[in-house]
Amino acid sequence: MRSAKLSTLFILYIFTVSTLASASDLKVGYYHSSCPNAESIVRKAVSKAVSRNPGLGAGIIRMHFHDCFVRGCDASILLDPTPGNPTEKEHPANNPSLRGYEVIDEAKIDLESICPETVSCSDIIAFAARDSAFKLGGIRYSVPSGRRDGRVSIKDEPTANLPPSTFNAGELEENFAKKGLSLDEMVTLSGAHSIGRSHCSSFSDRLYSFNSTHPQDPTMDPKLAQQLMKRCPRPSTTDPIAPLDIDTPNRLDNKYYLNLKNKRGVLTSDQTLWNSPSTARMARSNAIHGANWAHKFADAMVKMGSIEVMTGIQGEIRKNCRVVN
Ligand code: HEM
Ligand SMILES: *[C@@H]1O[C@H](CO)[C@@H](O)[C@H](O)[C@H]1NC(C)=O
Repeated sequence: MRSAKLSTLFILYIFTVSTLASASDLKVGYYHSSCPNAESIVRKAVSKAVSRNPGLGAGIIRMHFHDCFVRGCDASILLDPTPGNPTEKEHPANNPSLRGYEVIDEAKIDLESICPETVSCSDIIAFAARDSAFKLGGIRYSVPSGRRDGRVSIKDEPTANLPPSTFNAGELEENFAKKGLSLDEMVTLSGAHSIGRSHCSSFSDRLYSFNSTHPQDPTMDPKLAQQLMKRCPRPSTTDPIAPLDIDTPNRLDNKYYLNLKNKRGVLTSDQTLWNSPSTARMARSNAIHGANWAHKFADAMVKMGSIEVMTGIQGEIRKNCRVVN
């Protein structure tokens, strides 16, 4: 009787320990013995792709963010829709703007050929984001790994989890806090907008329809507004694109914060970081101390990469990142 109870408790304990994952279950060099070349294979695929098109590096860094903020870092962003099951990648926050999927596919194909069913798609995204930050910004950091892939992706879920570009500092703070990220980490990670591009629809209200008396957002440099209006003519059925940092769109650095200082943040969610009392000090500090920003950026990427991860026997290791096994 007594030992039956004890063994029940033991089984319960094992069950609890193996199903409750936490960030500390991830570890640097997780594939050291199971697939020693895992990280170098990802690096090769990223290096090749980003050399050809630096925008893909921006896309992959954004992909990691969009993956981790929706159901945790579980590669739910990569699942293709099936009949009757629309997935995250079809949400307007991702379609048509999110790019870099083919780079992840290529790394996965190479990995499956040398270490079948071993390296998760969620780890591939995390490695690839790190390698992109290195290619585009010289930012170097280790990525704890051992994530498992999810089996669920739901088209609507980005709505409640990803911040829209119209958010103010308080709304952004709250959104990131829900994922366990601090105000300083939010300001620091926004520095990713020193690379890549935006569709005009994400900021055109700032150019043409700010409010009933002011068509243009007064917190935007009128010269930047002019430049953007050329790229984004008002009556348009198409949705053109513009760089988030017009001067150095392929360099991941703290120039982003200097742009904010000069009222040259493209999105409302960018400019608000300089103009809001709660974040102004942090934005100013990042504008001045580039090396410190880069260091904080690396740490915040690692933290973002640990949001609600699955480990151990949870989830699965997908064979093809676009479909569940
Ligand atoms: C703070 C809240 C954030 C908001 C509101 C936001 C919003 C946006 C929007 C609207 C775009 C343009 C998409 C388009 O229309 O094509 C964009 C692009 C981008 N975002 Fe964010 N973002 C945020 C945070 C982040 C974070 C935390 C990261 C990564 C660490 C990130 C990385 C990027 C990158 C790299 C691009 C350029 C993508 C490309 O060129 O393909 N963003 N973001
Ligand atoms: C429009 O925006 C300007 C500049 O921020 C502001 O001064 C003005 O009060 C706003 N008008 C309305 C009607 O909201």
